[in-house]
Amino acid sequence: MAKRKTTKAFKPYDDRSQPTRSIKGYPNTLRRSPAKFYPRVVSLADVTGPRFTAAAVTADDADLSRQAPGQPRALGQLITVSGRVLDDAGKPVPDCLIEIWHANASGKYIHHNDPSPVPEDRNFRGRGRVVTDAQGRYSYRTVKPGGYAVPDDRPGDTIGWWRPPHIHLSLFGANFAARLVTQVFFPGDPLNDADLILGRIPDKAARERLIARYVPRTTSNSAEGDAPLLFSHDMVLRGRFETPFENR
Ligand SMILES: [Fe+2]
Repeated sequence: MAKRKTTKAFKPYDDRSQPTRSIKGYPNTLRRSPAKFYPRVVSLADVTGPRFTAAAVTADDADLSRQAPGQPRALGQLITVSGRVLDDAGKPVPDCLIEIWHANASGKYIHHNDPSPVPEDRNFRGRGRVVTDAQGRYSYRTVKPGGYAVPDDRPGDTIGWWRPPHIHLSLFGANFAARLVTQVFFPGDPLNDADLILGRIPDKAARERLIARYVPRTTSNSAEGDAPLLFSHDMVLRGRFETPFENR
C-alpha cells in the first residue's frame, strides 16, 4: 500500500477525481445517474441502525472461482485481489461489506441482460461478498475477467468500444445509506487507456487509483498447487484521496 500524508482537517475530493455524469458515445450513463444533486442528511437511524459484520458472509463467498468448495474451478487465470478500505485520514474501515461481480474469463456476465454470444462457464460463480476485518483488510479469489465488446447498435453509441478486464465493486461504509459503487482494473492492459468509463475521470492520478497493483509472489507456487496471481487494491471512502465512485 502506498504511504500518504494525512491532515486532521477534512478535505473533500476534487471534482476532477470523480467520473463525469455523462459520457459522449455512451448514452446509458444518463439513465444511470441522477439528473440533480440531492443533499441527504444522515439520520439517527442511519447511525444507530444495524451494521454488517463478518457474520454476514461465509468463507465461500470470498471465492468466485468456483460454485462451491470442492467443485471444479472456472476457466481462466486464477487471481487473488487483496487490500484495505480506508477513511479520509487513512484509518482502516472495519465491517465494510464489499460486494463483487464481474464477467467470466471470456467476457460473459451471468445475467440475462448480457446479449453476447461469448461462452458461459458453468463453474464460474460470478459474484461474491467479503467483510473487512478490524484492520480494514479484505481478500477475494476469482479468475481474471475477460474484456468484452460493448454493443454499439443504438444511435449515439461509440463504434468498436471494448471494455478492459474489470471487476465491479459495491461498498457499504458507515451505514446502509452509505453505499458506493466502483470498479477495479488491471495494470498494463492496452484497453485501459481507451476505456470510456475509466476515461470519464478527468484526473490521471485518480484514474490510476482504480488500477490494481501486481504483487510478486513470495511463496512457492508449488506449495499452493493452483497458485493465483496476486493483486493489491486499496479503496478510500472519502476525502482528497477518495476512490473514484460511479454513484456520486
Ligand atoms: Fe462490466
